[in-house]
Amino acid sequence: MVARASITRQPLVFLFRHERSKMTAVSLYMAPFRGITHKAYRNAHARHMGHVDAYYAPFVSGLGQGKIHPGKMIDLIPFTGNQAPVIPQIISNDPGEIILFGNVLYEKGYRHLNWNLGCPFERIANKKRGCGLLPYPNEIDRILNRVFSKVKIALSVKTRLGYDRPDQINPVLEVFNRHPLYKIILHPRTGRQRYGGKADPGKYAECLHLSSHPMVYNGDIYNHSQYKALQAMFPGQTEWMLGRGALINPFLAMEIHNVFLPDDQKRTRLDAFHNDLWEFAMTRISGEKKQIGWMKAVWHYLSGIFSAGKEAFEAIKRSHTSKAFEKAAHKAMQGDFAGEDQIRIHFLSLTR
Ligand SMILES: Cc1cc2nc3c(=O)[nH]c(=O)nc-3n(C[C@H](O)[C@H](O)[C@H](O)COP(=O)(O)O)c2cc1C
Repeated sequence: MVARASITRQPLVFLFRHERSKMTAVSLYMAPFRGITHKAYRNAHARHMGHVDAYYAPFVSGLGQGKIHPGKMIDLIPFTGNQAPVIPQIISNDPGEIILFGNVLYEKGYRHLNWNLGCPFERIANKKRGCGLLPYPNEIDRILNRVFSKVKIALSVKTRLGYDRPDQINPVLEVFNRHPLYKIILHPRTGRQRYGGKADPGKYAECLHLSSHPMVYNGDIYNHSQYKALQAMFPGQTEWMLGRGALINPFLAMEIHNVFLPDDQKRTRLDAFHNDLWEFAMTRISGEKKQIGWMKAVWHYLSGIFSAGKEAFEAIKRSHTSKAFEKAAHKAMQGDFAGEDQIRIHFLSLTR
């Protein structure tokens, strides 16, 4: 193990306070979703639902080596614009780019950067980025050697079991063990699976044994019962990342912390959350088509919180003007809430 002590040198104490505002046995993180969980979403969620210890921001890419274009930082600055702890993320196979981003983020106030080694999309993976790097552990080793010689910011990774085979992670974990990574978030699917099929908790268990770093479980936590089942499977697991389950049910983190609101209070909060998103869309996104487009991406998941979610989403999908969208969303919001099993079915029906 290389320089394990160096991670404990300074940022950890700060990080511990920064990411765990309250002392709970369990830390919950919100997964990044490019095209959905940008700053407005994260802040609205923190304001109205909360119970998330840190929000991972969607990946930034194509920074180059020189000066970072301000447009690339728009989701992340100012640091004080975050209403809850945020962890920026980068996709890159260029150590210079990771160092540049890490150092600029450090100057802006961030203390933790996440490296995306999991994105399954071909246009990324074919260029040996995201999970496309997983078949090349030596290259990962070379990148980490360079990065850790130059960055002050703590670095974690978010990864999968492999690109096309679930055992590709094994040599990669050996490489990770040689570097002072802050933590490893593992989504136990391969890249080829994308988001289909099932996550493989059994394989996650194997990785827990192979890794010397703190591990975060991410995958298919679609409702409270599923969380409980996974918790029973991994009693020592203290860090969990919620993904599509929390997009469908934004109260999921709250419920995992055993806060169950009555329906009227849920509806009031959901309404306020949705109003924040729509107001942001109307005031900060240019063009009606794009405004509604973002809301449709949100509703692709959120509709599953209602028992008639499928019909509600169909109506929202058909709306092409702000007025039509508002009408469809308002109607959807009056619906009965889905039960746990309906939420599970909605989750399993998702195609992306
Ligand atoms: C539309 C979409 C966008 C995503 N964007 C990102 C991203 O920017 N960075 C990342 O690490 N993962 C991204 N992911 C993956 C999720 O963060 C998460 O790892 C994945 O959904 C698995 O968790 P789940 O099964 O609980 O949903 C994305 C997934 C989807 C479906």
